[in-house]
Amino acid sequence: HCSFEMFNLPCLYVMCTTYGWVYILLKISELLCFHCCLHQSIWFYDLKTETAPLVVVVSTTGTGDPPDTARKFVKEIQNKTLPVDFFAHLRYGLLGLGDSEYTYFCNGGKVIDKRLQELGARHFYDTGHADDCVGLELVVEPWIAGLWAALTEHFQSNRGQEEISRVLPRASHISLRTDQMKPELLHLESQVELLRVDDSGRKDSEVLQQNTVNSGQSSALIEDFEASLIRSVPPLSQASLNVPALPPDYLQVHLQESLCQEKSQTSVTSVDPIFQVPISKAVQLTTNDAIKTTLLIELDISKSDFPYQPGDAFNVICPNSDSEVQNLLERLQLADKREYCVLLNIKADTKKKGAALPQHVPEGCSLQFILTWCLEIRALPKKAFLRALVDYTSNSAEKRRLQELCSKQGAADYSRFVRDACACLLDLLLAFPSCQPPLGLLLEHLPKLQPRPYSCASSSLFHPGKLHFVFNTVEFLSNTTTVVLRKGVCTGWLATLVDSFLQPNTHVSCEDSEKALSPKISISPRTTNSFHLPNDLSAPIIMVGPGTGIAPFIGFLQHREKLQEQHPDGNFGAMWLFFGCRHKDRDYLFREELRHFLKQGILTHLKVCFSRDAPVGQEETPAKYVQDNIQLHGKQVARILLHENGYIYVCGDAKNMAKDVNDALVEIISREAGVEKLEAMKTLATLKEEKRYLQDIWS
Ligand code: 2AM
Repeated sequence: HCSFEMFNLPCLYVMCTTYGWVYILLKISELLCFHCCLHQSIWFYDLKTETAPLVVVVSTTGTGDPPDTARKFVKEIQNKTLPVDFFAHLRYGLLGLGDSEYTYFCNGGKVIDKRLQELGARHFYDTGHADDCVGLELVVEPWIAGLWAALTEHFQSNRGQEEISRVLPRASHISLRTDQMKPELLHLESQVELLRVDDSGRKDSEVLQQNTVNSGQSSALIEDFEASLIRSVPPLSQASLNVPALPPDYLQVHLQESLCQEKSQTSVTSVDPIFQVPISKAVQLTTNDAIKTTLLIELDISKSDFPYQPGDAFNVICPNSDSEVQNLLERLQLADKREYCVLLNIKADTKKKGAALPQHVPEGCSLQFILTWCLEIRALPKKAFLRALVDYTSNSAEKRRLQELCSKQGAADYSRFVRDACACLLDLLLAFPSCQPPLGLLLEHLPKLQPRPYSCASSSLFHPGKLHFVFNTVEFLSNTTTVVLRKGVCTGWLATLVDSFLQPNTHVSCEDSEKALSPKISISPRTTNSFHLPNDLSAPIIMVGPGTGIAPFIGFLQHREKLQEQHPDGNFGAMWLFFGCRHKDRDYLFREELRHFLKQGILTHLKVCFSRDAPVGQEETPAKYVQDNIQLHGKQVARILLHENGYIYVCGDAKNMAKDVNDALVEIISREAGVEKLEAMKTLATLKEEKRYLQDIWS
């Protein structure tokens, strides 16, 4: 949900055999953290005999899980047969990255930290927990700064230049000027150079020279452009943090007229298989006076065999809005070069192989394509980005203001001006009119445009060849200098795509779409998921899904209906659904479908609450939120979970709802089982481990 995943790297392990190696990897992690230029996850997990310091930087994903690349490592260290002194030789420092809006903040790091301690490893440096909710940099920056001091204090005396030189060749992405190393000061100057060799083995410089000679007008443009790009990018001023500066002119690109590669948007953004599927239907599930608009989209997957089962999520690959790309191009004074292709700049003295543009920036594609499909132009600009912009800002007052914003003292100011204002690069460029950054800098700092995950809201047994999903159309105000109403990147795009054939709220499940409507979207499966119906059909299940959190449960219910039809004598467990919305008559999603499932006996208990309707009539429950209803039915909920081997699924908002539901469950279990809250929490943790308490939550 945060951190390295946002930067296209799920996890970085840094295990060092020498002092110098720590430095290099930290250097890489620094680049990854703030510049997203390198993409290799580096990890070693043979720590059994390692006596040099270990640095672990680890993010958290899902419901407090370590990222995919760390799973194997975590599993290995969790092995119960390891002796308690297994890692007694190991000294380590750990930086956990997480988001406190999720229930298990930094749990990926906490799990590793705890286990390393249990196995005898000792900290050489205090653990840091960086919170993406308030800004990772608030912890990451001082943590990295302090790390140097800790390393110096604990390890410096044992390490020498010779040993450092010995391991340097292992840093395959980075060429180091070893002659300038002063290990005692940790001022290893690293220089990353970029090179491309084309298929015929010629260097780009030769290709470029040819192009320059052959194309009259464009050669002048290229030279102009290069001249502006080649200006050395001053290193970030991190002196105050005592962190080594980033390599100068890390990323240089040039634009070349024509010869753009034809690149389909589907091939650049994901390594997963991509399916291009038509939208066959779109329905507005809420009334026009509802506070939020919820849409259902049906995809026709009959020709693509897109694999999914109820409870799965999948990715939608979406573009940035045309008008925002246009505005950005204009502000960068590149509007007339939007069709030019972006190439790595070639330096005549470049000798090193292996360097490249960020992986998500395909070389040779048009500038317009890259801004539209590859870069998250809406990303919240990090402080490091602001710092880098300083050097391209000519007005001294603006320069000072930018410097203030990215200074340590300016943390609150940064939060207000950038984070709270939902600012993006374009907002900053408008707020600082004299700032004119080169394209290379943007490619370096703008993260990959991520595909957006959605939960499947159908079962392929019930709707063969179809896949449904639902979402609220997101709108928010950005107010850095002027107030602008922005739409969610993906939901805004989808809403526009379906606008012309949107149907009003109807009974979605029973109606079959007549014909495939044309717009196609690109989707890819998401594989690591355990949010599925239990294999044991007789197990009772409790589903908690207010708002659009109901989506996967519609898939569950449809699936169960078909299974019950196929096995009329089967032993099927109870299905409880706790749903909540604001108004009975405006945003009660899938109301008719739920009635239908109740009537068919598929759904055995339906508990609905309306948070903003005044209670009327006798039968209205006093519950406002789903957790109130869960409390009201606490006895049955506890019985299902504690005595009937049941399952509980929670889907929807992570920030408040999932936490509140968790608290309600703790109370119920403690009350019904007559145990302390701590004990109840342990019971819930066990349920999680057994995959009987599952969450599909987001913020
Ligand atoms: P509210 O916006 O009226 O407060 C779906 O979004 C439903 O979830 C809405 O009825 C919303 O209510 C409700 N909701 C908001 N915060 C919640 C929380 N902490 N726990 C459960 N439901 C919540």
